[in-house]
Amino acid sequence: MSSSAPAVRLRGVTKVFDTARGPLRAVDDVTLDIAAGEIFGIIGYSGAGKSTLVRLVNALEEVTSGDVVVGGRTISGLRESQLREVRAGIGMNFQHFNLLSSRTVAGNVAYPLEVAGWPRARRAARVAELLEFVGLTDKARQYPSQLSGGQKQRVGIARALATNPQILLADEATSALDPETTQDVLDLLKRVNAELGVTIVVITHEMEVVKYTCDRVAVMEAGKVVEHGDVYSVFADPQHPATRRFVASSLRDRPSPAALERLRRRHPGRIVTVGVREDGGSSGELTRALREHPVEGSVVYGGITEIAERPYGSLTLELTGSEEEIAAFIADLSRSTSVLDLGTAEAPRQDPDAVGPRASGTSADDGAARDGADDGASGVRDAAANEALLLGKGGFGAALAAVFGRRRKW
Ligand SMILES: Nc1ncnc2c1ncn2[C@@H]1O[C@H](COP(=O)(O)OP(=O)(O)O)[C@@H](O)[C@H]1O
Ligand SMILES: [Mg+2]
Repeated sequence: MSSSAPAVRLRGVTKVFDTARGPLRAVDDVTLDIAAGEIFGIIGYSGAGKSTLVRLVNALEEVTSGDVVVGGRTISGLRESQLREVRAGIGMNFQHFNLLSSRTVAGNVAYPLEVAGWPRARRAARVAELLEFVGLTDKARQYPSQLSGGQKQRVGIARALATNPQILLADEATSALDPETTQDVLDLLKRVNAELGVTIVVITHEMEVVKYTCDRVAVMEAGKVVEHGDVYSVFADPQHPATRRFVASSLRDRPSPAALERLRRRHPGRIVTVGVREDGGSSGELTRALREHPVEGSVVYGGITEIAERPYGSLTLELTGSEEEIAAFIADLSRSTSVLDLGTAEAPRQDPDAVGPRASGTSADDGAARDGADDGASGVRDAAANEALLLGKGGFGAALAAVFGRRRKW
């Protein structure tokens, strides 16, 4: 494989599950390249098909149609022994860690090395090296139950890296962690990428994670990749409603419907939200427009942050002036940035991408309602996948049978 060949190449990849309610297209015609050496994010709400997609990459699931190529090798049609070789080049860690509770930290990290038949002395040296890398040398003899969530995830990462994989798949690795611990684990993933040269695929339902960690991102919804590209261009100019919701719910820079109603009560003028971006639409444009038009503007809501280290956000203003003056102001500013007219108390207009609870009514269609990382079933699937990977077993069915048919101590 040449150095420019993608680490993972997906072509028209589709996975259909037969369920009691009929066929379910968990992954639907996905075409994507993940470059060697990058940190690639896959973001989507729960049920979007992210975990299924990564299971197709490490050959725990078989595609219904399409091609999965890992490190230049097409997975479909490989024999079990060849699949094991492909899997040996891929590390994986999960939301629920899936550590062996009866083994120490060192024992957990050593486990994949034992399965791969490493001699004892090499194993011990490798475990020491890995624990040092993840900063857990002093915890080597402790048991998982004695560790914090962040420490457990570090053990999971050390274990996933044990056999020197070229690719690391991190499926909701930080979803069970608090924000500060999340940051530590994401910093560790960045080090794994920068210092070990490992290609990382970060699967998440949190935009913060992608924003902080990834070079490029694909947004998934209902099995499809609806949008992909470098992180800034996807999030600074989101095209698909799913992407727009991720952006709005992460930045909270735009007033929720309830906040907007409060703003209208306090401010009788015209409420507009003005985008702040790197190219054009800087807050300087806003200042200029306010200077040149006979319109009063005061900032009533907003936030500007960074995406991929570049400015992004919005400011919401109350404008006062005549109807015509305000219209001219909006038309002028619209030439250099996005301006969303939210109307007035008498003639209100809604933000089509608003997230957060509504002031009244019972719409369940807000960001919080979809925030969950997974359901119970996917936790069970994670455990099964983990076992299949560690034991070098084939097929997902075999792994499930292993979990349900045989009592293992987890
Ligand atoms: N082994 C399976 N059998 C049946 N349905 C499945 C299986 N794995 C996943 N699904 C279904 O496929 C869809 C996508 O699931 P998943 O890939 O876990 O999504 P995500 O990781 O984005 O939350 C969901 O509707 C899920 O219930
Ligand atoms: Mg998942």
